[in-house]
Amino acid sequence: MKLAFYTKHCSDKLGKDKVLLIMAIKQHRSNHTRPKVKKRSLKGKEKKQKRKEEQVKLAASQVLVDAANALEDPMSLVVPFKKYDRNGLTVSIDCHKMPECARDTVDWALSLLSTNMKSLGEDQNPVGFVHFWFDMDFDDEVLYCYEIQLVEEVRRKGLGKFLIQILEMLAYQTQMKKVMLTVFKHNKEANSFFVNQLKYEIDETSPSIYDPMNPEDYDYEILSKPIKKKKTMEAKSE
Ligand SMILES: CC(C)(COP(=O)(O)OP(=O)(O)OC[C@H]1O[C@@H](n2cnc3c(N)ncnc32)[C@H](O)[C@@H]1OP(=O)(O)O)[C@@H](O)C(=O)NCCC(=O)NCCS
Repeated sequence: MKLAFYTKHCSDKLGKDKVLLIMAIKQHRSNHTRPKVKKRSLKGKEKKQKRKEEQVKLAASQVLVDAANALEDPMSLVVPFKKYDRNGLTVSIDCHKMPECARDTVDWALSLLSTNMKSLGEDQNPVGFVHFWFDMDFDDEVLYCYEIQLVEEVRRKGLGKFLIQILEMLAYQTQMKKVMLTVFKHNKEANSFFVNQLKYEIDETSPSIYDPMNPEDYDYEILSKPIKKKKTMEAKSE
């Protein structure tokens, strides 16, 4: 099961600006089953035991990812973040699943992506969107931020940082191990935003780590930030 959310900014009846985060969930994950462990001849008990442990860990990770994807409204986990009121911006942030999401909002989000942030109509006043999902990345359960796009007029007002903080809180609440994203090397602004301001680091799966001798072959880096482990009720009572 994969999910994504899109944000939409419009004026409500009170004249205040409003951001809607609209979540899209694909219900079927036929191509997202756990990778099968290849059957190999086992040389010892130890090896067998290790593999068993790995499978148990993978299954536990998958349970967390599935639970996160099954959330009705992820924003209910971070209620204080449903309103952003700073630097002349007053926006409310809500999350909706794809079937309840207005088609024009999805179209707008995709249009923002494809037109690379051209200003759109005054009547709707959309300002940005975030697209993410919960998934397994190798053996780790992660929240992957696929896109964050804001129109120029609302940038450098802290909204981007606020939205990424929401993702980090969602990752914490859903017990993901890290927040990950891909950024083009030539996007100096985004690199500065994530690395200098938000303290993201080059992930171990990024090409500059696993293939350091050929940097010219890659125009992107994978960045990530580890998320503190949430204390479960059992851990708290110990
Ligand atoms: C990248 C982006 C999401 C940042 O959102 P934002 O709301 O403008 O960023 P914030 O105001 O929260 O910035 C927080 C801090 O990040 C750093 N930062 C943000 N934008 C920056 C820029 N263009 N250049 C240098 N540093 C930047 C600054 O330190 C900033 O703090 P300051 O404004 O007090 O100096 C937004 O600029 C955007 O949508 N850019 C175009 C799309 C894009 O490149 N997306 C990233 C794809 S990986």
